Amino acid sequence: MKDVLEFISQKRLEFSQLPFFSFLKDPNIPVLEKLACAPSLAPFSMGFGELNKYVLRDETSDDPIQKIINKHTYEDDHHWLWYLEDLQNLGMNHSVSFTQSLRFLWSEETRAARQVIYELYRLTAKATPIQRLIVVEAVEATGNEFFEVMAPISYQHRSEIGSNMLFFGHVHLSVETGHATGTQDLENIIQNIHLSEEECQEAFELVETVFKVFSDFLDSMLSYAQKSKNVRVLQAV
Ligand SMILES: [Fe+2]
Repeated sequence: MKDVLEFISQKRLEFSQLPFFSFLKDPNIPVLEKLACAPSLAPFSMGFGELNKYVLRDETSDDPIQKIINKHTYEDDHHWLWYLEDLQNLGMNHSVSFTQSLRFLWSEETRAARQVIYELYRLTAKATPIQRLIVVEAVEATGNEFFEVMAPISYQHRSEIGSNMLFFGHVHLSVETGHATGTQDLENIIQNIHLSEEECQEAFELVETVFKVFSDFLDSMLSYAQKSKNVRVLQAV
């Protein structure tokens, strides 16, 4: 499994070069313009909790790897609550009609966010515990990269506006460690998992797919934020 972890690190490095990260790190772009991407995460943030609860978690299994995944899912199944609170604090909780909300959630602007969830379901629903763990590790690597860049921005927002951010802030970063959480010495455990050549090849493909869908997702966040320019919500739908 060591090779797979190394491959994840390599993919993370490529991921960190995406234009969305340059946009987030640009000191000349106002913080609120960066945070204007927030609504476009909606299908992902809401769907990810359910993925953890209903797909990644399997309490009927005695498999030790599945048990590691189960523990992790209890951390990741409720972060959508933080997302809702941040939307509120960002002033993005405007009232729109029910049909406008539906149009937005299934719009082209949020397609990449939905696609991440669909792909993660596809990759993990009938997967072995080891394959699930590989997907979790790849997802965590993208999450840690994202929140490492996002948390200082949200901190800047806090000092400008006076409200703390949870999903986009340090609270989230502190639990998105870059690895599955809840199990001590996990990195060692993972490194010592032996994969056959075929399993290893499959693992590389899983990692590739995870990074591909998250990269598309970040590109779509960038387009959304740039289009928004200022904090706006769903009126344009
Ligand atoms: Fe999370």
